[in-house]
Parts: sequence; structure tokens; C-alpha cells
Amino acid sequence: MSAFAGKTILLGVSGGIAAYKAAVIASTLVQSGSQVEVLLTEAAARFVTPLTFSAITHAPVHTDPFALWGPGFSGHVTLAECADLLIVAPATAMTIARLALGLTDDLIGLVALSTPAPILIAPAMEDHMFWHSATQDHLATLATRGVTVVGPERGRLASGRSGAGRMADPATIAARAEDLLAPAGPLEGVHVVVTAGGTREPIDPVRYIGNRSSGTMGYAIAEAARQAGARVTLITGPTALTPPTSIEVVAVETALDMQREVEAATRDADILIMAAAVADFRPEVRSKQKIKKTPALDGLDLHLTRNPDILAMLDRPGLIKIGFAAETERLLENAEKKLRDKGLAMIVANDAAATIGAPESAATLLMPDRPAEALPRMAKDDLARVIVERAAGLLDRRGHPVP
Ligand SMILES: Cc1cc2nc3c(=O)[nH]c(=O)nc-3n(C[C@H](O)[C@H](O)[C@H](O)COP(=O)(O)O)c2cc1C
Repeated sequence: MSAFAGKTILLGVSGGIAAYKAAVIASTLVQSGSQVEVLLTEAAARFVTPLTFSAITHAPVHTDPFALWGPGFSGHVTLAECADLLIVAPATAMTIARLALGLTDDLIGLVALSTPAPILIAPAMEDHMFWHSATQDHLATLATRGVTVVGPERGRLASGRSGAGRMADPATIAARAEDLLAPAGPLEGVHVVVTAGGTREPIDPVRYIGNRSSGTMGYAIAEAARQAGARVTLITGPTALTPPTSIEVVAVETALDMQREVEAATRDADILIMAAAVADFRPEVRSKQKIKKTPALDGLDLHLTRNPDILAMLDRPGLIKIGFAAETERLLENAEKKLRDKGLAMIVANDAAATIGAPESAATLLMPDRPAEALPRMAKDDLARVIVERAAGLLDRRGHPVP
């Protein structure tokens, strides 16, 4: 049965061009079995009429907080109490500011402050408005309060320009709404830190030593952990991937940056999954100026020094450490050694040449004192779900490590 069945969803629509797409969201939710009540801001009602929404939802559409009060119905208070979920789509810069500041000068602001239900917002605006630090600060505030922010996406904007600010697709918004309505996942209340991508070790201001890691595996694990209900911190080296929403993302460049951020993020974490390809070595000296190709220079010797082994050095009691072994030879033997030497709860062993940068992977999972589990070749998204499932198995029902 769909997670929407029998649920009451309040759909707040604010005044942006994307308001017309909210009709598609309303229709999807109604067809999935939920009762939908639409809250329109005054500006939104200038883009789409209340009639459009009432015809789709077969329910009243609310605009004026003062008109809502009557016998047996305490206006926004009753609405807020009955809601299983509040979706605000599109969420204008104005409405985002209103929610972040706790302003209650309209119905969406009033309900958002009164409801115990989870809140999902889908920002939509021109890219300059979206990237403005005022909007970014407000979104960060909302994210720390547990509001789920979906999108925006990059693409053609109403002005005809291209950039970030396009409202997420209605199907994506409905899917994230379904996640929020679904029963609690196995990692509910658990903080998972995931690392992803490769590090870059600078030679000079324009050159670095890097590796072929795309970040796909780490991003997939972060998303799978989020879907399992975890609070996720993703610490990522530079990648070409779009940062996931509703996940705290910390961008780093070097192995030393990554070590610092992992140490900070794991202070209150339950599980650390190190999927990043962290450079083992870095140039001992980082030239302040670009190294010039002078006629006298017919070669360049770089002396490399060891980077810290982040996983091995982290020794916080209770932290479940999961590592990756990407090897080109003696895979299982090397993986078992890493499992022991670094005190890991699990290691994901895979062939480096066939895995790094590829969309699929054939991995073997190793845990201390358990037989190895050889998995068939599968998409990294699927492998991520298996890894997260096994990680959840390392916790007891209360979300604490098994003694
Ligand atoms: C034609 C037009 C399109 C607009 N599109 C957007 C938009 O996409 N996103 C946005 O944040 N504001 C947009 N605005 C500005 C909002 O309508 C304005 O800030 C309004 O006060 C928002 O109020 P509300 O959040 O209460 O609906 C637009 C304004 C106009 C006139």
C-alpha cells in the first residue's frame, strides 16, 4: 500500500512562476490516495486560481487565515494538527525567509509554526535569488531544523536564462514526500558520516595529484543511508556530481582537510563509511608559485610524503567503522589485513581497476569472524543499499552499536 493512503497533506503554494506545476503535485498526491488541502499565498493566487486546486483536490482551498475560523474548526490550528505532512512547492524566496524567521503573517507561515508534521519545501526562483546569501542562510537554517529541502534543479528558468533555481520535478517532490510518510527506516535516529570522491594533493597553485574516483559510490551510500532514515553527513572531495539535498555536505580537497572534517563530524556519529579514495601520499612541498617550464628544467622530481590513514587513526569507542579496499592484486588477502589493522566492523573489497569511475561494482563484504559475502556485479545504487542494510545490522534496535 502506498505511504500516501489515508494521509492528510497540506500543499502550500507560494507566488512564483512554478505555481502552475503545483497543480501536477496536487493531482499526483490525490491519485496516490491522500487527502490534499491547498494553502495559497495571495501572490500564488495571482498565478493560479483556487478553482484549479479545488477542482483537482475536491477539497476547499485556503488563502485567508481569518476566514478559516468557525464552529468546530480552529483555523490554522486545526489544519496544522490534522496534517501528516506540509509541502511548500513552489517555495519562493519570500516564503523561505518567512519560514526561516518564523513569521506568521500568512497561512503557510502560521501552519508551519503550528504543525508537528514534517515539512518539505521545493525552492523555485531565479538563480541570483537562489544563490544570494540571504536565501542560502535561510535554507541552511531550515535544514538544521529538519526541514527537507528538495531541489532546486539546474535548467532553463522563467527568464529564459539557465541556472540553478528551477523547481524540482513534481515526481521527485512526490517521491520525497512518500519517503517522509513511510514508516521509520532502520537507521532512524542514527548519525552516519560518509566520505566520497578522491582527494587532490597540490603540487603548486594550479596542479595537483589526484585519482580517478568519481564519488558515485559514496554519494549512493549517503542517499541510501538517508532513505534508511539516518541523519547523514557527506564529506566529499571534488566531483562532478550534484550535491544531494537534505544531507549535510562538507566539501574538502586534500587528505588533511578530509581528516579534519571526518574527526569533527564523527564526534557524535554512530557509523563512519569511508568510500573516499584518499591519497596515500602528498607532495612534501607545495610550491607557492606555479612551477615554470624553464629551458634549464628538463625534469621535475617530486618528493611525496605519507598522508595520515584516517580510518586507522580514528579511535572513538562505539563508532562503527566501515572501509573500502580497492585493490589490483591479492584483493581478499589485502582487504582482510585492512579489516584487522584498522579495527573495522566491515570492509567492502573490490577490484580497483574494474570499479573506480565505473557505474557498477562486484564487491565482497568482509566482517570479523564471519564468512565473506561475495555479491554479484550490480549498480552502485544497489550495492549502496546492501552496504547500508549490513551497516544497520551492526546496530541493535535502539540504534546503538551491538556490544
Ligand atoms: C511574474 C513574477 C514571477 C515571480 N516568480 C518568482 C519566483 O519564481 N520565485 C520567487 O521567489 N519569487 C518570484 N516572484 C516574486 C514573488 O511573487 C514575490 O516575492 C511575492 O511577494 C512572494 O510572496 P509569497 O511568498 O507570499 O507567495 C515573482 C514575481 C513576479 C511578478
